[in-house]
Amino acid sequence: MNDKVAALLNEQINKEFYSAYLYLDMAIYYDKLDLDGYSNYYMIQAQEERDHALLFMKYLQNNGLDVSLDAIAKPDKSFESVLDPLLIAAEHERYVTELINNIYHEAHQAKDYRTMKFLDWFVDEQMEEEDNADSMINRYKLFGQDPKGLYLLDQEYAARVYTAPSLTL
Ligand code: FEO
Repeated sequence: MNDKVAALLNEQINKEFYSAYLYLDMAIYYDKLDLDGYSNYYMIQAQEERDHALLFMKYLQNNGLDVSLDAIAKPDKSFESVLDPLLIAAEHERYVTELINNIYHEAHQAKDYRTMKFLDWFVDEQMEEEDNADSMINRYKLFGQDPKGLYLLDQEYAARVYTAPSLTL
């Protein structure tokens, strides 16, 4: 595999673990506010991000490449309102989309069709992630500023359950 592509795939393991950390931090924030549904939503989001990290790790291993784990940065976002984590999550997912697109671009340059095929799942996943994050913002703006509306949204997010990724390696 092209060295640059391999290095980016390895870096992505760390980026996905950072995403998990960021979402855990959001889950902790909502737990403090007693918004247990929002907290549950981001706990599950964190689990999904860990899954993403492990998929990148497994892909490198399946290709006989070394995996090198780096330190995970401290989540440094501060949340001042119920809306803040939702806005930060949407912005963060757009950043992750850029990262995935960049690896895809490098894989394309290197004619690494196998990696492009592997990344296709993440390209689709990012569309879903951005859509979900935007929808959480819109729904909060529509219903969440009324206490009863916020209560109902929180109940709905409490019902989210973890499902393993559809991609297996
Ligand atoms: Fe791993 Fe939320 O993208």
